[in-house]
Formats: sequence, structure tokens, C-alpha cells
Amino acid sequence: MKVVVFSSKDFEIPYLEEANKGRHQLTFIKESLSSKTAIKAVGYDAISIFSADDACFNTIEKLRDFGVKFIALRSAGYDNVSLRTATRLGLKVANVPEYSPNAIAEHAVALLLAVNRKLIVSNQRVKYFNFNLNNLVGFDLKNKTVGIIGTGRIGAVMTKIMHGFGCNILGYDLDQNQELVTKYNLRYTTLKELCAEADIISLHVPLNTATHQLINEDLIYEMKDGVILINTARGAVINTEAVIEGLKNRKIGALGMDVYENEKGVFFSDHSLNIPDDDLLIALNARPNVLITGHHAFLTEEALTSIAEATIYNLDCWMSKKDTENELTKVGKTI
Ligand code: NAI
Repeated sequence: MKVVVFSSKDFEIPYLEEANKGRHQLTFIKESLSSKTAIKAVGYDAISIFSADDACFNTIEKLRDFGVKFIALRSAGYDNVSLRTATRLGLKVANVPEYSPNAIAEHAVALLLAVNRKLIVSNQRVKYFNFNLNNLVGFDLKNKTVGIIGTGRIGAVMTKIMHGFGCNILGYDLDQNQELVTKYNLRYTTLKELCAEADIISLHVPLNTATHQLINEDLIYEMKDGVILINTARGAVINTEAVIEGLKNRKIGALGMDVYENEKGVFFSDHSLNIPDDDLLIALNARPNVLITGHHAFLTEEALTSIAEATIYNLDCWMSKKDTENELTKVGKTI
């Protein structure tokens, strides 16, 4: 199958080539998919895209006109794809539903430990041989309450890890996972109760109409003073302005974020010589109690191997006219 791989990054190409073993004709391009760049798909059967690509209504219509039949996502999240349009126009879309929940959960824990124990500020001081310990006080995680919003694959691993630290776990999800209740004493609550009781809140819900700006001014008001908020889900699950306000008035003690509401066009490339004209990002970046990573929670060898293998598997299925269980455009799976 002829496949154009949008937004391909140097670090992932070897993994994709290894998984492909020459079966498909892969063309790697750096441009991200948009209605403007969709033209690059002319002459290809399939495209592969990542979370920063935009497969909206217009783009998918163009892809269909250009003869593209398949979209293989190299991500778990699919909030950037209009599945409804794809289904209507007969394009098949598949994702990589579970590539390494550990990669993301462990990154969430890394952010938590770093902001709680102020590792970045401490290290910045040490670089200048300043070993002063003032303002570096954190707290023990043992016996603290962690609120996990979204107890799916990643939230479940997060629950297990935080249970290992000796934390009490609260969960909020539309579907309850009884195994987490029995094994790790997770207690499901309402969102409001979780926010009111948790010392640490970690977000693991997908971005959809119900979760868009879920963490807003009203919920932040319910939170404990000094709460630590960790977001490795999607930027728009939080209302960034409300969170900045919460940081300013010290309601939120620290924020660790791997994703950002307006990350499109900014994350995944070097802007050091051309700082983005984005007051929210600048305001967040300026605060010592905010740690931002550029959407790289997935960046482990294991995750990259699994993403590449599942992407090629989805293409293999389509090439041999079989269904893939990862298809999102099947009836019933469409959002
Ligand atoms: P999952 O589908 O296994 O779990 C998501 C959970 O959220 C499910 O249990 C679902 O019932 C729950 N949920 C959905 N809508 C809800 C709502 N309105 N209210 C309460 N709960 C709701 O997904 P998984 O694999 O755990 O991934 C979660 C998200 O993490 C992905 O959708 C993606 O956006 C993000 N992610 C981020 C990555 C990164 O590199 N930062 C990498 C991979 C995923």
C-alpha cells in the first residue's frame, strides 16, 4: 500500500521502518495534515497521522477526493479526526488504542515528583553552585489523596503506581473499573467530591464534548488549597485561563502539564528563536511551580515500538481486505 506519513519525526522513522519490513511504500513528510497540506496525499491509498494533525471535515473531504481510503493514526487519542465525516465518506480510520499506558502514567508521576519536590528549580540553582534549600519544601506522597479523573488504561496504571506510593485513591469515570476498587482501594466519587478531597489530581480522560474544559473555574474553586494538578491527557480538558488564575491565587500549588490547549503549531518543533506569541503559554512558562513538557509522555522505546507495530498492523489488515479491531469508523464506535 502507498502511504504518506504526515508529521513524521526523526525519532519514529526507524521504528516504523523496522515494523514495516518493506511491506508498504512509506513516504515520510514533516508537514502536518491540514486542509492546505491534504494535497500531499494525492496518489496514496492511505495516510498516517499523529495527534497534532488536523483531520477535520474539510480535510477528510479533500482526502476522499484525492483517492485516500485509509487513515492510520499513530496515536491513541482521536479528537483531531472527524470520525463522523470519515464514516460518511467511507474512509476507514484506525488508532493505536493501547501502546504503552505505562509510558504516559510514568510521565505523569515524573511530573508530579518533579513539581512536588521542586527538582527543576533545585537543579537550576545547583547549576550556579547555589545550594540554598529555601522554598524547596515538598510533601510526602504517602497517605495523600490522589484523584484520578479517567480510570481507563492510563488511569488504571496511574492508580496502581500511586497505590504503591501509599496514597489513597479517588476515581471519577463514566465506567467503573471494579478491579481498581478491590486491588487498590480506589473509591469512585463524584467529580466535585474528588476535587474537594484530593491533594493531587491527575487527568486521564479523552478530549470530547463532555470533557472539553472540564477543569474550569467552578471546579477549581472546590479544590483544596495548594492542590497539585497533572495533565497528560489533552490540553483542552482544562480551562487554561482558569488554571492560571488558580496558580496566581495559590489555590493550585503546582501544575505539571505535558499537553496544552493551544499546542497545535507550537509543540513538536523548535521556536526558541521565534517565541510563540501566546500570552497563556508565556504566563505558564514563567511560573516556577509550573512544569511543561512538550507532549512527550509517549516517548519511550516500548511505546514507539508498539505504535509502529500497530500502525503497520492496521495497514496490513486493510491491504489484505480484512477488518482491524482498532478501527474507529465501525458503526457504534463513532463519537
Ligand atoms: P481509555 O479510553 O482507556 O480511558 C479513558 C477513560 O476516560 C475511560 O475509562 C472512559 O470511560 C473515561 N471517560 C471518557 N469520557 C469521560 C467523561 N466525560 N467523564 C468521565 N470519564 C470519561 O484511554 P487511555 O488510553 O487511558 O488514554 C486517555 C487519554 O490520554 C487519551 O484519550 C489521550 O487523549 C491521552 N493520551 C496522551 C498521551 C500523551 O503523550 N500525553 C499519549 C496517549 C494518550
